[in-house]
Amino acid sequence: MEMDKLVSLCKRRGFLFQSSEIYGGLNGFWDYGPLGVELKRNLKEAWWRDMVTAHDDLATPAGAPEPYEMTGLDCSIIMHPQVWKVSGHFDLFCDFMVDCRESKKRYRHDQVRGRWVTAKGQKIFVCTTAEADQEDADLQQRALKFFNYRGKDVDQLKWEGDTISLDTLPKTIQLDGAEKKTAEQVLAPDAKTLFTLTDPREFNLMFKTIVGAMGTEEDAAFLRPETAQGIFVNFKNVLDSTRVRVPFGIAQIGKSFRNEITPRNYTFRSREFEQMEIEFFCHPNQSQEWYRYWRDRRVKWYTDLGLASERLRLREHHQDELSHYSVGTADIEYAFPFLPAGEYGELEGIAHRGDFDLRSHMEGKLDPHSKPELKVELNADGKPKHRGSGKDLTYRDDLTNERYTPNVIEPSAGADRGVLAFLCEAYHEDEAPDENGKLQSRVVMKFHPRLAPVKAAVFPLVKKDGMPEVAQEIYRGLKKHMVAFYDEKGAVGRRYRRQDEAGTPYCITVDGQTLQDRTVTVRDRDSLEQWRVNVDDVVADIRSRLE
Ligand code: GAP
Repeated sequence: MEMDKLVSLCKRRGFLFQSSEIYGGLNGFWDYGPLGVELKRNLKEAWWRDMVTAHDDLATPAGAPEPYEMTGLDCSIIMHPQVWKVSGHFDLFCDFMVDCRESKKRYRHDQVRGRWVTAKGQKIFVCTTAEADQEDADLQQRALKFFNYRGKDVDQLKWEGDTISLDTLPKTIQLDGAEKKTAEQVLAPDAKTLFTLTDPREFNLMFKTIVGAMGTEEDAAFLRPETAQGIFVNFKNVLDSTRVRVPFGIAQIGKSFRNEITPRNYTFRSREFEQMEIEFFCHPNQSQEWYRYWRDRRVKWYTDLGLASERLRLREHHQDELSHYSVGTADIEYAFPFLPAGEYGELEGIAHRGDFDLRSHMEGKLDPHSKPELKVELNADGKPKHRGSGKDLTYRDDLTNERYTPNVIEPSAGADRGVLAFLCEAYHEDEAPDENGKLQSRVVMKFHPRLAPVKAAVFPLVKKDGMPEVAQEIYRGLKKHMVAFYDEKGAVGRRYRRQDEAGTPYCITVDGQTLQDRTVTVRDRDSLEQWRVNVDDVVADIRSRLE
């Protein structure tokens, strides 16, 4: 599937709009349109229902060591600044960036890609930030321009090696028998001359704001970069206000903010996005079993909702990829169509966070480099560098009397990335007969019925003979239970195609036969099968099919 086609459908049919579009947009921010908001709500509601409200805490789910409880929270976006010092985000939540002295542009170091090329006796590393499908063409065009060649001279360019990320280049290279700084040979993505990029520098991804009217640096606070910390700091509140016992999970859905240096790939990397996170508290001795349970459970959730398993994979992180808190992490990844063939993008991470978070919020910032001991980092005076709350966040098992700091398994999903994956998966082009039986090409969004923004549409075949009245009665009956749509404008074939583009699973048509026997036609979006149902049964019929 070509990404441009999906992007244009999303705009045309109201799934996704660029934020503040009439002012030229704001990079990294997106708005969900009338269909998009329903799709996203359905995804979040499916997650909340499957993970929290419909979870059976009396039974042992397949693959789990024992039954467990689930509960929820909705925490504030701005939290006490100490939270981020203690969590490690203040010091460690950074990306490396490089600035171009010539173009004044800023790039994420690992997202600038390039390739060695030689011409006219000179070897340079030409760079690009173009999307994967444009990368080769952009590199070629930039190299031709740099060496002052025309299109017909492409054979003069001698390419070497693969296209690689700038951050993988060695600091020095051998050129003409001498050792040279690699940076001197780099042609930055928007520069005309060589050696215009600065050395990479750390850039903290948290958005800063000021709380209160004084406006001083002391009042600085941060928009949360993850929802997880709200759960950790409320661990004791949940224990004290409910009867939950370890093992149990706390779930939260909410906005997170990251000042990404280069937001890209549609909504995949945004600056404002929504997360669906579970912090699952368990006994340290059982943590590996729970880690495996959650990895498998979460992959199954995506396949059950219609992501094809051949485009989905579970990838265990290498030791050097792990975040500062993680003892082990696996990513659920999807082969998004905007990525080069064979590459996958992260949908969700499942992290084994050990006792890092609860211990940090008790004792202070922990030194991530001392893993697995996770020692407290001390100031010269011997006091912890970033003090924790000092509150006791351990757990006492009232049956065994054992006191311990629970371990945490964290399945952390992105709602926007989920929506994007389901949009990509749903997009199909095929043919369907029009009202005269002639095959016409159509675009059809094959969403799982639970995710489909509109569940059913009702059409009177013509705007007369009492057909609109019957159709409106059905429409009102459906609206009590689901999102439904009424349409009486234009040829019925066109109305079907509009609903196919919206991903509506069922269309109901009131026609001449309805007036004789009170039956209507129901059409299935995917199989195109049609059948007749009595007007009085149609709401129940659609409801049972959606279940
Ligand atoms: N609490 C752990 C945590 O936040 P993460 O891997 O940084 O882990 C979890 O984020 C999920 O949030 C990712 O798998 C992704 O789906 C989503 N996410 C992270 N950054 C994002 C961004 N800039 N835009 C959209 N979604 C993002």
